[in-house]
Amino acid sequence: MSILLLNGPNLNLLGTREPHIYGNKTLSDIETDITELASSKGVKLRTYQSNHEGAIVDRIHAARGNTDVILINPGAFTHTSVAIRDALLGVQIPFVEIHLSNVHAREQFRAHSYLSDKARGVIVGLGAYGYEVGVEFAVREVIQKK
Ligand code: DQA
Repeated sequence: MSILLLNGPNLNLLGTREPHIYGNKTLSDIETDITELASSKGVKLRTYQSNHEGAIVDRIHAARGNTDVILINPGAFTHTSVAIRDALLGVQIPFVEIHLSNVHAREQFRAHSYLSDKARGVIVGLGAYGYEVGVEFAVREVIQKK
């Protein structure tokens, strides 16, 4: 039983990066909070962040066989990456797409995602709370129903 949380480019800057859009919590704050949340439910959560598309593809491949659900905020790769889409489909692990901001209320180019039509669900605009919702969903809807 395990969840993998993936964060893409520039999310290592959370806390100082455009806080009016992305909030004041650092990625480390978010990771600590949801690791504890998952642990309180008896589920192991692993985390990984990279600014590099290929590294994210490699980490998705490495999840095969040891991960029940992937929670992914692909950052800007959401709007560009066929490779991350193909990797997620290739490993056949259910995934939830998460965005801190409401991508539909921003620039038009953020409205399109290469992942959303294949995701179990998409969480947008709830800030850091969206990651907690992702963990709750992963535990309740995917892991406990296995
Ligand atoms: C984001 C939204 C993306 O459009 C942006 O490129 C990000 C963060 C979000 O969490 O709101 O880096 O994924």
